[in-house]
Amino acid sequence: MRMVDIIEKKRNGQSLSKQEIDEIIQGYTQNEIPDYQMSALLMTIFYEDMSDQEITDLTIAMANSGDKIDLSMIKGIKVDKHSTGGVGDTTTIVLAPLVASVGVAVAKMSGRGLGHTGGTIDKLESIPKFHVELSNRQFIELVNETGIAITGQSGDLAPADKKMYALRDVTATVDSLPLIASSIMSKKIASGADAIVLDVTTGAGAFMKELSAARRLAKTMVKIGQLANIKTMAIISDMSQPLGEAIGNGLEIIEAIETLNGKGPKDLQEMVYVLGSQMVVLAEKADTLDEARVLLEESIKSGNALKKFKEMIQNQGGDASIVDTPELLADVPYKVELPAKSKGFVQAMDADKIGIAAMMLGAGRKTKEDTIDYNVGIKLHKKIGNPVAKGESLLTIYANQNDLEEVKHLLYQTIHIGATGDEPKLIQEIIT
Ligand code: URA
Ligand code: CA
Repeated sequence: MRMVDIIEKKRNGQSLSKQEIDEIIQGYTQNEIPDYQMSALLMTIFYEDMSDQEITDLTIAMANSGDKIDLSMIKGIKVDKHSTGGVGDTTTIVLAPLVASVGVAVAKMSGRGLGHTGGTIDKLESIPKFHVELSNRQFIELVNETGIAITGQSGDLAPADKKMYALRDVTATVDSLPLIASSIMSKKIASGADAIVLDVTTGAGAFMKELSAARRLAKTMVKIGQLANIKTMAIISDMSQPLGEAIGNGLEIIEAIETLNGKGPKDLQEMVYVLGSQMVVLAEKADTLDEARVLLEESIKSGNALKKFKEMIQNQGGDASIVDTPELLADVPYKVELPAKSKGFVQAMDADKIGIAAMMLGAGRKTKEDTIDYNVGIKLHKKIGNPVAKGESLLTIYANQNDLEEVKHLLYQTIHIGATGDEPKLIQEIIT
């Protein structure tokens, strides 16, 4: 079928067949279909939507467009975790060693930061000498021998997604549910996991600002996973404010160490237990979520989880002594408090704006070429719902320069203090 006929078919509200979708994705990946036709199709999908079957066919075609990671050499059930994004999201760095410490094989591929602040790989690079570029062989050997490895993306995973995402970015077709769901799931499927736990965020700092949109995305991705024979579940979590208290690369490693020590912020701790319990059950290391949670809590109490984190750092060439001297990861000349201008309760703070403030300090990249300053960031002392006295510190800014007027202005603008304030519900829904 000619591309123009396929565009017309979709434009007229008909569903595309698996064969048509395969042809489009192959043709586009091989540069046989030009950007202008693909742009027209993407905009048509934006308006006409897709059925679950079409989204699944699109996802599989994209997953098959390049390299696929074969994890079959790793013993046991491989469970992957993915978040649709947030600010100060330290979850993976706590979760990976924690579930590994109770016997779940963790073969994790992570990315660098796309948004305002660093991604998991950037955060891990704040640990001196830590290697994030493992060969496929090293990666698989490490997981088999030690139960855990985290690496940057290798190979040419889902090249169709790379090309389509770049095109969506300049054609106002990023925020289309079938296109987001297939983009995320194609990369997960190409990474070879047997089971996937998804954290779909909602609120100011998330892709999906509205709960209803987050719910639809979560349900669609769970359906795609199941239709592709991968056990998949999702939680919908609040990202109206940053997760935990630390935003910034080194600061988040410190926060991860505190959480693995049982002394982390309670929202991050809860997130890790909820996602971790699901991973432990999917990996068949416990029969029920309650049983799984007890295993995880015991591993933190006994120190096994933190020991696993140390082991992972050592295995990947890093300096594990930082676990005992974490303050070296946020070694800055300026630590500046932000005093509250009035008393009351914190009513709102946009995760997005706080992410931008952290980026302005140097914790994230403005452009792909920027380098990250690992030591800088923001440590929140107050979160939504907390009472605050006039003059009390809302947060500490960790900076390498002392001209902070713009950053302070942005932070004051986004932190609202009023007569009342309700703590948001962290785990909004669970979708299986
Ligand atoms: N994350 C992705 O990987 N793809 C999207 O389309 C949106 C978020
Ligand atoms: Ca955090």
